[in-house]
Amino acid sequence: MPVVETGRVVIVGAGLGALYAALNLAPRAVLLISPEPLGQGASSAWAQGGIAAAMATADSPEAHAADTVRAGAGTVDAAVATSVTAEARAHILDLTAIGTPFDRDAQGGYVLSREAAHGLARVVRVRGDQAGREIMAALIAEVARMPSVQVLEGVMAVGLQVQGECVTGVAVAAADGSSDPVLLQGAAVLLAGGGSGGLYALTTNPPRIRGQVIGMAARAGAVIADAEFVQFHPTAIDIGEDPAPLATEALRGEGAALINRDGRRFMLALHPDAELAPRDIVARAIFAETQAGRRPMLDTRAALGTAIVDRFPAVVEACQRGGIDPVTQAIPVAAAAHYHMGGIAVSKEGRSSLAGLWVCGEASATGLHGANRLASNGLLEALVYGRRAARDIARGLDDAPQPKVVLALPQGGQSPDVDLIAELRRVMTDHVGVVRDAHGLQTALRRIAALEAQALGDANFLNMTATATLIAAAALLRQESRGAHCRRDFPVAKPELAQRSRLTLAEALALRQTVTETQE
Ligand code: SIN
Repeated sequence: MPVVETGRVVIVGAGLGALYAALNLAPRAVLLISPEPLGQGASSAWAQGGIAAAMATADSPEAHAADTVRAGAGTVDAAVATSVTAEARAHILDLTAIGTPFDRDAQGGYVLSREAAHGLARVVRVRGDQAGREIMAALIAEVARMPSVQVLEGVMAVGLQVQGECVTGVAVAAADGSSDPVLLQGAAVLLAGGGSGGLYALTTNPPRIRGQVIGMAARAGAVIADAEFVQFHPTAIDIGEDPAPLATEALRGEGAALINRDGRRFMLALHPDAELAPRDIVARAIFAETQAGRRPMLDTRAALGTAIVDRFPAVVEACQRGGIDPVTQAIPVAAAAHYHMGGIAVSKEGRSSLAGLWVCGEASATGLHGANRLASNGLLEALVYGRRAARDIARGLDDAPQPKVVLALPQGGQSPDVDLIAELRRVMTDHVGVVRDAHGLQTALRRIAALEAQALGDANFLNMTATATLIAAAALLRQESRGAHCRRDFPVAKPELAQRSRLTLAEALALRQTVTETQE
């Protein structure tokens, strides 16, 4: 493989964590690898709700941390929750300073949305449901002004080079599969390439986000934490689109109700907070209604009426594409893979278990989210760890300018096998989804192994199957139900299992091998 050496820090990914880290590394030189044009294809840009931060006078970081720990169902690292929530305000002020147009009230205070499992309204937002897009636009404009940041678009990472226990390079190729890889050897590697939602057939994540970054690190030997904890969003708009558009939880914060085909508000009987119960509980209720054929729907009519048009334009636009008018009709919804609490295990500085490799954002597992992420803590975590990783990396570097990288990608490559990917996603939704059991998880592991055998060495697909294997294996090993991980054969939480999981790919593959050798 051709080798290109650079003194730049190589950042894999182009979402909020990646851009924020690049800015925080300045003036140290950065090369940012983005499969799509900046602002397209990253999960952050699709975020509707906003960023959780204790900005109200009645609020405090301690209260925010307590809600985070409570939602996380016994496996949040309390020290991480304390430190992340304490930093939240400073990051909101920094994003404001670079031009993010957060919604403000007549006194200039931040307008705050209420989302599930928060004790009070705590989510800073932009034009109702435009937070992700607007924050990303502000960051992209800032990156464009920063001479230290070089952006390579249309390129994706497919593997890591490891020497001993140290990451020494990133293999990159054309994002459309039309080239062979080139090995980039930089000053350090920061992975910020998103989570795993797109490994599922029903997801709210952008099409390219299919667990590749986690899988690539796992294949290089990095320890993966909390892989079994995948969050399903209760209100993906069910209009047959892939990915499914989101109906933000902030709608329920405004009083929107969940009803079924018979017009019954089924959450009232299930939790004292009804529609604002923790996300895992609402997602399971939606899933149960769907399975029972009772067609769950989000009814915004009484709570918002025509105000939904101005206040939640992205939701209205998606509804219109599906022929739904939310002013006069309830919105059909389904539970869809939305956020991976698990990922590459990192320290408080964002360091992975491999030297030379830092991780931030959804690809990482910091301990903040436990078994069930508190709404709108995802972007916050990306900001906090994006900056921490940048500062940690910067400590070992000088700030000498570096020449731009010129990448000549050799012709060749392998187009993605869309049928294999579709089958993998179907296996994950059918057997590693909202409700799991040993039989289904073992079936999933066998099917993933069979799909992998057909992949003919396609590194991108092998990164996906690595993450799929880790999720299914960790879910099989956790013989209890906790947060978003629900086992119908082990329906209650076991206090002695209230700890985070850690797994290497080698361990997950050994389990998969044992399962594969066992008769179905
Ligand atoms: C939402 O707006 O409902 C999503 C927020 C989140 O996933 O944090």
